[in-house]
Amino acid sequence: MSHVSVIGTGAMGSALVQAFAASGANVTVWNRSGHKADALSGPQVEVAASAAEALETSPLAILTVSDHEQAQALVDTSGADLRGTVVASASFVTPEQARTVDRVVAATGGQYLDLAIPAYPSQVRSGDGYFLVSGRRSAYEAHRERFERIGQVSYVDDSPGAAFASEMAVLLAYLPMAVGMLQGRRICEIHGLPLEWFDETVMELYPDQIRSLLERASLEPDASEGDVEASVGVWGAGASEYADALRDLGIDAGMYDALSRLFAAASEAGDGDADWTCIAKHTATR
Ligand SMILES: NC(=O)c1ccc[n+]([C@@H]2O[C@H](COP(=O)([O-])OP(=O)(O)OC[C@H]3O[C@@H](n4cnc5c(N)ncnc54)[C@H](OP(=O)(O)O)[C@@H]3O)[C@@H](O)[C@H]2O)c1
Repeated sequence: MSHVSVIGTGAMGSALVQAFAASGANVTVWNRSGHKADALSGPQVEVAASAAEALETSPLAILTVSDHEQAQALVDTSGADLRGTVVASASFVTPEQARTVDRVVAATGGQYLDLAIPAYPSQVRSGDGYFLVSGRRSAYEAHRERFERIGQVSYVDDSPGAAFASEMAVLLAYLPMAVGMLQGRRICEIHGLPLEWFDETVMELYPDQIRSLLERASLEPDASEGDVEASVGVWGAGASEYADALRDLGIDAGMYDALSRLFAAASEAGDGDADWTCIAKHTATR
């Protein structure tokens, strides 16, 4: 019997295997394409002959396959007896989907945990993983230390899907920001601006801007306050100008077109002169 099984040894699964093995755990692995699992085998890593064997052989089995449907199908069709096994899946699920996976795992005697990983495989591999877990607290507590040995782990709550909802809340802004920054670097290349300057300036400006935004967002807007620092109308016009300028440069303007539409709708709804942070209520209702 090993300490932990990892089923699906792609980028994230193989990083978890290496981190667990480095932390002293005995790991069992299985992958649909066997050569990827075989490449990980070693003194502490054993390759299982089937997904069922991997699921049954450890008290903690982690599913790191492409998405929750594959994860659910693997458990469903494996024929594994999951009594005594906690099955944690790293694939994003909505609360409803999580309840379905939970039922499928419970039907064969196991306990399901959401395992959201807001980290890159390289961070996980080097022992700097970050894990958010939801599901039965007792199932989490039984394996908390195993995760603590390979990074930071936080328990969200006992509702299925809660870990992925929390992860999404925190990470939602990351992708648009990342795409915007990569487009910003492209603008520098087109205009011959030094990328070192771009990187330094971004690092100088953004942390303060993020802090200031979070402070503003937590303030109740004061209707009696006459001075609006930046209105919905001003930001809407800015978004529209950036969209046109991106198009002129041959850079995809889709994100800024969407922002421009959002601010225009807020103006049409009568908030054109209000502080731009009131856009939150318009994004909530659309
Ligand atoms: N990479 C990240 O930065 C990251 C971060 C956090 C969470 N995650 C999550 O971790 C999970 C795995 O991501 P990844 O980056 O490791 O993906 P990946 O490198 O593309 O690996 C996908 C894995 O899923 C397996 N798989 C796909 N379809 C399958 C099926 N029908 N039956 C059995 N196995 C199947 C693949 O097996 P084959 O080798 O046979 O194709 C492979 O092992 C995803 O849910 C992802 O959202 C990833």
